[in-house]
This record gives sequence, C-alpha cells and structure tokens, in this order.
Amino acid sequence: ELDSLDKIVSLAKARGFIFQSSDIYGGLGAVYDYGPLGVELKRNIRDNWWKAMTQKYENIVGVDAAIFMHPDVWKASGHVEGFNDPMIDDKQSKKRYRADMLIEGEIAKLRSNEKFEEADELQQMLDTAGSREGLCEDLHKIIMENEIRAPESGAFDWTEVRQFNLMFKTQFGATSSGSGEEDAVYLRPETAQGIFVNFKNVMDTSRQQIPFGIAQVGKAFRNEVVARQFVFRMREFEQMEMQYFVEPGTDAEQYDRWLEERIAWHKELGIRESKLRTHPHPEDKLAHYAAAAADIQYEYPIGWQEVEGIHNRTDFDLTQHAEHSGKKLEFYDQQQQKRYTPYVIETSVGLDRTVLMVLCDAYREEEVDGDTRTVLKLNPEIAPTKVGIFPLIKKDKLQDLAHKITADLREDYNVLYDESGSIGKRYRRQDEAGTPFCITVDFDGVESEGEDTVTIRYRDDMTQDRVPVSRIKEVLSEKMKS
Ligand code: GAP
Repeated sequence: ELDSLDKIVSLAKARGFIFQSSDIYGGLGAVYDYGPLGVELKRNIRDNWWKAMTQKYENIVGVDAAIFMHPDVWKASGHVEGFNDPMIDDKQSKKRYRADMLIEGEIAKLRSNEKFEEADELQQMLDTAGSREGLCEDLHKIIMENEIRAPESGAFDWTEVRQFNLMFKTQFGATSSGSGEEDAVYLRPETAQGIFVNFKNVMDTSRQQIPFGIAQVGKAFRNEVVARQFVFRMREFEQMEMQYFVEPGTDAEQYDRWLEERIAWHKELGIRESKLRTHPHPEDKLAHYAAAAADIQYEYPIGWQEVEGIHNRTDFDLTQHAEHSGKKLEFYDQQQQKRYTPYVIETSVGLDRTVLMVLCDAYREEEVDGDTRTVLKLNPEIAPTKVGIFPLIKKDKLQDLAHKITADLREDYNVLYDESGSIGKRYRRQDEAGTPFCITVDFDGVESEGEDTVTIRYRDDMTQDRVPVSRIKEVLSEKMKS
C-alpha cells in the first residue's frame, strides 16, 4: 500500500506520464503537463467517460462551450459573490493557508500521534463550524483556541480569516479600459455554466424532451491556495460534467439513480471496490445551489478524498440565468400541458483526479526472483500502450518479423517497438508503463517447422503463451476484454 504520493509522482515523471509545468524554469505551482504516456491515459479515460455518458444514452448529448463566458454568467451563478475559500495568513512567514485545511492538518497530526480523543474533538469543532456567514469567525476561533501553529514556520501569529475568491480574472481585448471591475472576464471555474447557458439552444435544436442530459469535458481554472497534492488539486484542470434536466418532483429519484450509475462507472474503470465510498454532504454543509449532494470518494494515499460530486442543483441555475439574461429557460410539457423550470442533477468528475486515482489504484510493487518489480495493473482498455513488441535480440530475421507485427497491430492499437536492452529490462519498462501485453519474437518461433510463432507475455501474472502470428490479433482482442 502507498503511504504517500511520492512514488506515483516519481513514476509519473520518470515514465513520462506527468511533468511539472514549465519544468526547465523551476515549475509553476499546481500546474502540470501530461507527457506521452499521460496524454494517452488521460485521453482513454476521457473517451471512456464520453462514451459511457453520451453514446450509451439516447437522451444525453454533448456540447463544447468556450472557456470565456459573459461576465454576468458568474454573477448569476453566484461565483462572484460566493466562490470563496476561507484563508488565513501567517504574519511571520507571510504564507497563506486555507483555514479549514490547516485544522484538518492538525487533526491528521493528532491522529498520527495517536491522540484520538483530541483529534475527534477538533474534528467535531470543524464539522460544526459555521454556516457560510459565521464560518470565518468560527475557523479563526478554532485555530486560536487550539493554538494551531503554522506548519512551516511553527509561528502562532495569525491574521483574521478572510474569504478569498478563487476565480482567475483577466481582461478582454478592445473593451478593456484598464483595471475596471466591469471589464473583468473570468476563466471558468467549472464547465457546468457552459451547459446551463446553452440549455435553450440545445432544447431548440436537438428535439430532446425532459428528462435529458447535456455532457461536456473541458478545462476549468481555480486559484487554489493550498495546492501541494500533485494533480489532486490544480489551478488548471479538466472536468467531465453532465447536467441532467428533470421534472421537479422526480429529482430525488434521479439523484439516487445517477449516484449509483456513477459509482458503477468507477468500478468498470477497474477501481477496487474497497477503495471507493460515497460521502453524503450534511444538509448544513451544502453548496448554495444544492438540495442534496454526495461525493464519490477514493482512498488516495493522502486519505479518503472526493473524486466526483453528484449534486441536486434544483432549478437554481436556470432560474438565476433566466432572471439575469431576461430569457425564458423553461420546458413546456405538451402531454401534461404545463410549463416548468427543470431541476438539474449534476455529475461532476475531475479528469486529473481520475488519472491520479487510476495510477494509485494500479500501482503495485511485487517481489520477483529477489527483485522488486514495479507494475501498473491498468485496465487494458485505458492503458496508454496496449502492446510492446520485441525482437529477442538484434538479428535481421527477428527484427523484420517484429517490425511487421508492429506495423500490422498499429492499425488497431497503440503499440511500441523496442529492441534496446535485455528482454527482462524491456518487460520491466512496460510493466511500469502499464502495458498489458508484450510480444517477443525469438528463434524458436521463426526457425521451427510450419507457421512462425511468437510469445505473448501477460503483465499481471507474467505468464506467457506461444501463439502463431496469424492468431495474434484474435488472442489480443480476447484478452483485452477479460
Ligand atoms: N460543477 C460542480 C463542480 O464544479 P466541484 O465539486 O467543485 O463541483 C467537481 O468540482 C470535481 O472537479 C471534483 O470532484 C474534482 O474531481 C474536480 N476538481 C475540483 N477542483 C479541482 C482542482 N483544483 N484540481 C483538480 N480537480 C478538481
């Protein structure tokens, strides 16, 4: 079991999954780039979600809205006013912390020192800390009363707790007069609003009737202050969201249904069931737009954390946008002859957090012949490279056949030809990349009577089968499914 993210971070870097952004300049905080293997893994997960959430349903369609949106969108959505985190500054080091996370850190520290009672007590205080209005005061009081010190400097010299807006602000070309608040354009902090503002466009053009859904995948931006957890909390990240528009009164049932369907998706992705759980939000902790909400959590090496949120957003968003835009955002039900503003059930999963979950869940260290083998036991469907193809040694006869097989398989799969290093080293490299199958061309296969054969080696149990060249595709497609 992994006890921190360190091994995942180093493997991700060493194998070309994920790099720090602008690495050669010392990096940019909480921003990451995906390398050759990472981009494939991420794309496979994104495609899997897209298929599961659109193609599988007659009544869910997609959009791809722009990242920039009209400034009024964020007033209507409540983000300008309320998309804040409570922050506190250590006056000594001038470092800024998220007040609630500072307390969570203290709780974790107490637990690791086996001071369970104190930890529970502090947790209780945090859980009952204020509604939105009293939150800052309550968090400040908890920090002061429990003498929580700044993690880095050890100082106990805090400012007040203040709300800090998480949206990135920029200015729009010709309309910009300088620094005026009225010109501010934001980088969207969630993709959902691009769906709400297109509700009418999609209704008018796609002949959908309630209930129906709109799905979208895209970048979102948040000026996260506490951002030290690799791709778990980033300032630029990708969301995969689906808003399902339903008749009021059916929302509770649809909420339960989507929670179930989404958990099923994580399991189908290959995530171990014991590492997944749902965490319903208590009523007094709900976001301003929600009537009910639950996280789907994964047990990351940093603890149980949210990977996806399921929300019953009621008619909050459509009503707000109707009011601010002056456009009717309603549905006319011909059968029932009634007009209403639909309720929205939202499923919102972070793509990068899913990548991290998949990597953590697949990571294993195994003892093999006195050595440690690191292997990513990825579901073959999302593995970046499906097949590694190796000539046993650099001899024309073996290389030619290996090249031929590579060219042939390339039509269907992402494959990799590799002839450098010992065969054992080549297997290990592919184990670390999560490649489920390796094909080796050897002399036994090309110099025996009859058709040429190769060995197919399976990543998870390292067993091998000898297979005639003409049957390779058949065997791979069979094993890919199992
Ligand atoms: N539209 C609803 C919404 O945005 P959220 O719970 O704020 O809800 C949904 O975000 C998901 O987006 C989270 O469950 C998480 O997977 C992902 N996410 C949010 N903030 C993130 C960040 N800073 N870095 C990476 N992923 C993030």
